[in-house]
Amino acid sequence: MAESMKGLHRTCRCAELTENNIGDTVTVMGWVQKNRNKGGLCFVDLRDRTGLLQILFEEDKIGTENFERAGHLRAEFVIAVTGEVAKRGGAVNEDLKTGSIEVIARDLRILSESETPPFPIEENSKTKDEVRLKHRYLDLRRPDLQRNLMLRSKVCMEVRAFLAEEGFLEIETPMLTKSTPEGARDYLVPSRVHPGSFYALPQSPQLFKQLLMCSGYDRYFQIARCFRDEDLRADRQPEFTQIDMELSFVDIDDVIDVNERLLKKVFSIVGVDVELPLQRMPWIEAMNRYGSDKPDTRFGMELVDVTDVVKGCGFGVFTGAIEAGGSVRGLNAKGQGDMPRKKIDKLVDFAKDFGAKGLAYLCVNEDGTYKSSFAKFMSEDELKNLVDAMGGEPGDLLVFAADKNKVVWDVLGNLRLELARQMEIIDESKFNFLWVTEFPLLEYNEDLGRYQAMHHPFTMPMEEDLPFLESDPGRVRAEAYDIVLNGTELGGGSIRIHRDDIQERMFDALGFTKERAYEQFGFLLNAFKYGVPPHAGLAYGLDRIIMLMVGADSIRDVIAFPKVKDASCLMTEAPGTVDTEQLDELGLAITVSEESVKEENAE
Ligand code: AMO
Ligand code: AMP
Repeated sequence: MAESMKGLHRTCRCAELTENNIGDTVTVMGWVQKNRNKGGLCFVDLRDRTGLLQILFEEDKIGTENFERAGHLRAEFVIAVTGEVAKRGGAVNEDLKTGSIEVIARDLRILSESETPPFPIEENSKTKDEVRLKHRYLDLRRPDLQRNLMLRSKVCMEVRAFLAEEGFLEIETPMLTKSTPEGARDYLVPSRVHPGSFYALPQSPQLFKQLLMCSGYDRYFQIARCFRDEDLRADRQPEFTQIDMELSFVDIDDVIDVNERLLKKVFSIVGVDVELPLQRMPWIEAMNRYGSDKPDTRFGMELVDVTDVVKGCGFGVFTGAIEAGGSVRGLNAKGQGDMPRKKIDKLVDFAKDFGAKGLAYLCVNEDGTYKSSFAKFMSEDELKNLVDAMGGEPGDLLVFAADKNKVVWDVLGNLRLELARQMEIIDESKFNFLWVTEFPLLEYNEDLGRYQAMHHPFTMPMEEDLPFLESDPGRVRAEAYDIVLNGTELGGGSIRIHRDDIQERMFDALGFTKERAYEQFGFLLNAFKYGVPPHAGLAYGLDRIIMLMVGADSIRDVIAFPKVKDASCLMTEAPGTVDTEQLDELGLAITVSEESVKEENAE
């Protein structure tokens, strides 16, 4: 039977006790991790969010009745124990913070009993994700998840303290709003009062934070929930949290400066000493060297452009791609020349998944001969020049992609990561931060047949590229920056356009008529008519920051109640159907079944 808390006060948490407390009388409360009964003695491991504490029940100290009750304690019972802290009678448990002490119980209250849980509450659980997520309230009792969420809380506190100190104000922006221009699908909320009209949940607070700058708040931040209906991945959830900020009267260096100091402060929480200033790299350099705009710089194996070397060679795949305006680039997987054919074929398939038409390879044998998918098409000299250009030595595996630049970068960028994983050359102890700057302002969307903003339409073009906005939009670079850590994009932002002449040219370049621009963003454009300070901002993915700090594989492990791949919550079973009255009230009717949508998505 569950007992009450009446007259009982917890004096401390379990793992807060140390040898310094020996002799103290304490009252601790928590969950039973384990109960071992050894005739006349009963050892209970008691757990709370600080960790485990051994409780010793001795029949002669606690009385027969209480001792019997102690013997019946099972996993996940919630109990309160009063007793004395003592040096452990038995062997010290080196793995435990409280491994050298125990509490000798004088009194026991059973606050609540527990059914047998569907899986054991333990670190590094082997239980299937589905089972754990269905019972997330139990999963969240596990020490690794508790540590992650405690760290997350600490990071938020530190971020708030730091930004407040730097003159930022924390201001909330609406959740029920209009579409924000971040490029994903919106989550819509139907309006009852305006049948047929919908709010959009914010993809980010972008427009509101710019308005706050117009309103003179000077420096804003928010730990903001954002919603994006896009495909889920390990580092993507449909709702996630940004550390979002905007600053007035700043240039790029001001934004980077305050953010570098913020990152240093935040990562010091987990003992990582971030050396400042951080490296900066223009986007084009990142693409050429790493095939990625979020390069993992913890290892080399950089891309090599061999277009000029193979120009006019005998291999049609290479020359064909070059003639079509593309390039040929390669990677040198050092010492992988003895990779079995089957494994190389897997690499070719991997490359094809990223849009490659094929992957040409060449192994440099120890005797100087080659094992290759294309050597027969090239002369001895051509091959030698190519191998030299790649820095190829006996024992190396060289792989090449020939295509449009975009495809070649993507294929080799991903292959580089895959090879590094296979070769185990990534130093997991490193924290390599990198600013990627000078992104292209626009990217051409072949499906739409027009340019699109790479970030959003309010990103400032680089001044020296402004003359090309009409004549050669593709070459215009943006005053945009991303912060990358170990190959993950942690955050990004830009200097915003605050001049209406440039904003108008930007909308022209995007094929927006003035009417459409006003329809979508009228409130912002109107605000800009009344005196707007130059401003800039940035947003981090908080979930990603915590994920990398704790070395988790997925942001699911740092979010209390995450969603799974199909954007549902296994615990609450959201999203769910609603009854007809609710639909009627909203003026909505359902016209498709879930099954038909699922089938369509699967195609
Ligand atoms: P952006 O779209 O780059 O910029 O988002 C900023 C950061 O948010 C994180 N992020 C996500 N994290 C988890 N799940 C997702 N689905 C997800 N999508 C994005 C990433 C990303 O770097 N308004 C601009 C910022 C600005 O210009 O100030 C913006 O939202 O870590
Ligand atoms: P093929 O003559 O098509 O059999 O191609 C010869 C070799 O070139 C094979 O190893 C293909 O995988 C490779 N290959 C084909 N297309 C490309 C490409 N676009 N880039 C790199 N290698 C390719």
